[in-house]
Amino acid sequence: MDLTRRVALVTGASSGIGQAVATQLVSRGARVVVHGRDRQRTLDCADRLGARPVVADLARDAGIDELAAAAVDAYGRIDVLVAAAGVGWSGPFAAMAGADIDELVRVDLIAPVRLCHALLPAMIERQTGHVAFVGSIAGRTGVAGEAVYAGAKGGLDLFVDSLRLELAASGVAVSLTVPAAVDTEFFVRRGRPYSRRVPRPVSPQRVATAVVKAIERDRPEAWVPAWLRIAPAVRAIAPGPYRFLSRRFGEQVRAARHDEARLR
Ligand SMILES: NC(=O)c1ccc[n+]([C@@H]2O[C@H](COP(=O)([O-])OP(=O)(O)OC[C@H]3O[C@@H](n4cnc5c(N)ncnc54)[C@H](OP(=O)(O)O)[C@@H]3O)[C@@H](O)[C@H]2O)c1
Repeated sequence: MDLTRRVALVTGASSGIGQAVATQLVSRGARVVVHGRDRQRTLDCADRLGARPVVADLARDAGIDELAAAAVDAYGRIDVLVAAAGVGWSGPFAAMAGADIDELVRVDLIAPVRLCHALLPAMIERQTGHVAFVGSIAGRTGVAGEAVYAGAKGGLDLFVDSLRLELAASGVAVSLTVPAAVDTEFFVRRGRPYSRRVPRPVSPQRVATAVVKAIERDRPEAWVPAWLRIAPAVRAIAPGPYRFLSRRFGEQVRAARHDEARLR
C-alpha cells in the first residue's frame, strides 16, 4: 500500500510504539488520527505531528465506540488501523485483582477486535485497507508472571490469523507485529522492570519500522527482533525441554530475585 494521503488511525499513539508508528506514517504522507488515553500527551503528540487527536479509554465499551466514530469523523474514512494501545501486568496470577484482569483483557484483546469490527466493513466495501495489530512474544510462548497478558495476546494472535484467512480475497490486508522487549514506558507502567539479559530491548522506532513495512509491503507478520521466531518453533518441536528452559531462565525467576534484592 502506498501510504501517501491514506488515512490512518493509530491507537496508543500518546506513547512508545504507537507514537513511533504515527510519526513514521506522517513522514510517508499519511493523514493520521492519533489516539491516547491521557489527554495532554495525546494533544501534544497530535500538535507535534500535525495529526488529529482522539482521547478515549479503551477499557470502557463506550470508549471503543467513541473512538471509532470520532476517528472516521476526522477525515471521513479510515484506510489503515494500527492497534498499538496495550497494557501489561506482571506478578503471580493469584495476586492479580479482578479489576486488573478485566482491564487488561479489555484493552489488549477486546478493544482491538471491536475497533477492527467497527472499521472493517467500510474497508471491505472499498476493497482496500490494512489492519495492523501489535502482539507480543508472550502471546506465542507464554510467560510466567504474565499469564493474563500472554493469554490476551495469544487470543489476538489467533484472531488475526483467522481474520487474515477470511479476508484473503477482500482487498483488505491484516498484519501482526510480534515484538519481544521494547524500550518504552510499558515496563514502568506494569510495575516491574524488564529483567532479562536476552533479548535486549529494542527501540520503539525499530518496531514501528516493522509495522509500517508490513503495511506498505502487505506482509502478514513481522518479528522484532527477527531471530525470535525460533522461540515458538522450539516450543512446538520440543515442548518438554522448552518448558524446562523457561522455568530455569524465565523472567519470573529473575523478577523474584529482583524483589528479594529490593527487600534486602
Ligand atoms: N514494550 C514492550 O516491551 C512490548 C513488547 C511486546 C509488545 N508490546 C505491545 O506494544 C504495544 C504498545 O506498548 P508500548 O511498549 O508502546 O507501551 P506504552 O509506551 O506504555 O504505551 C501504551 C499505550 O497504550 C495506551 N493505553 C494503555 N491503556 C489504555 C486504555 N485503557 N485506553 C486507551 N489507551 C490505553 C497508552 O495511552 P496513555 O499513554 O495515553 O495512557 C499508550 O499510548 C502494546 O500493545 C504492548 O502490549 C510491548
